[in-house]
Amino acid sequence: GLVPIDVLLKKADAEGYAVGAFNCNNMEIVQAIAAAAEAEKSPVIMQASQGAIKYAGLEYIAAMAKLAADSVSVPVALHIDHGTSFEQVMKCIRAGFSSVMIDGSKLPLEQNIALTKKVLDVAHAVGVSVEAELGKIGGTEDDITVDEKEAMFTDPLEAERFVRETSVDALAVAIGTAHGVYKGEPKLDFDRLKKIKELVKIPIVLHGSSGVPDDAIREAVSLGVGKINIDTNIREAFVYKVREVAAAKPDEIDPRQILGPAREAAIEIIREKIRLFGSSGKA
Ligand code: G3H
Ligand code: 13P
Ligand code: ZN
Ligand code: NA
Repeated sequence: GLVPIDVLLKKADAEGYAVGAFNCNNMEIVQAIAAAAEAEKSPVIMQASQGAIKYAGLEYIAAMAKLAADSVSVPVALHIDHGTSFEQVMKCIRAGFSSVMIDGSKLPLEQNIALTKKVLDVAHAVGVSVEAELGKIGGTEDDITVDEKEAMFTDPLEAERFVRETSVDALAVAIGTAHGVYKGEPKLDFDRLKKIKELVKIPIVLHGSSGVPDDAIREAVSLGVGKINIDTNIREAFVYKVREVAAAKPDEIDPRQILGPAREAAIEIIREKIRLFGSSGKA
C-alpha cells in the first residue's frame, strides 16, 4: 500500500539523505518510478500535478500508483503536487492519495497559514501528510530581475512562524530554483537555506530540481533538504527517446516499440537521481 511522506521524510532527515519526488502523467512513467525505486532499493514519492490529474484522470492516477506500490518491495507515497484548493485536495485524499501539497504561496501569509491549517486538520485526521509552500517558486520562463527574484525567496522568520502556527509536515521553500528548463545555471541561496533550517525543524522540499547541478543538490541535501522534486528531467529523457526511436524507425507504427524504450530511459534518469539524493539502499 501507499505510505504517507511523513514516514519517509523523518527517516531521511535522521539519516541525512533526501527522497526523490517524481512527477507522473501516464502509465509508463508510473511504472518507471516504481521500477527505478525497486532497482535502487529506495523509498520513493510519486506525485501528480493538477495538469497530470486533468490529463490522466484522478482515478487512473490513483489506481496506477496503488498497483505500482503493491508490485514493489520498497515504500511508495502518492502525493498531489501544488494542490491549490481545499476541495481538490479532499478529492485526492478520497481517491487514496497518501500525501498532499497545499500551495498557498500566492496568498498573503495569514491566508496561506489559514488554508494550510484547514487542509492539515482533515488530512492528519485520516493519516495523510501535508506539504505547504512559503515564498514563490517561479518558472524559468518568468522574465524577472535578480531583485524581483529575491523578493520571492522564503523569509526564514516567516518560515519559523508558518511552521509553528500550522505544524505542517514538510515545507517547500524558494531559494533560487525554478520549474522547467533553466536558461543559465541556477544559483541557490544556501545561506538562506541554512537560516531556514536553523529555525525550522521539519523536512524542507526543493522544487524545480531538474537542471540543478549535482554539487548543488548534494549541498542542499547536506543542509537538510529532505524531498527533491523532479519533473522536467524525466520529460526530457522520455521525449528525447521517443524522438530518437521515431526518427530511427520512421515506419514503426507500434506504440510499444516507441514508448517501451522511453520508459527505459525514464528508469535510467530516475535511478541516477535516486543515487544522487543518497537514498539508494534506504528502503
Ligand atoms: O510544478 C510543476 C510540475 O512540473 C508539473 O507541471 O503542471 O505541467 O504538470 P504541470
Ligand atoms: P522541475 O520540472 O524543474 O524538475 O520541477 C518539478 C517540481 O518542482 C514539481 O513540483
Ligand atoms: Zn513544484
Ligand atoms: Na528546473
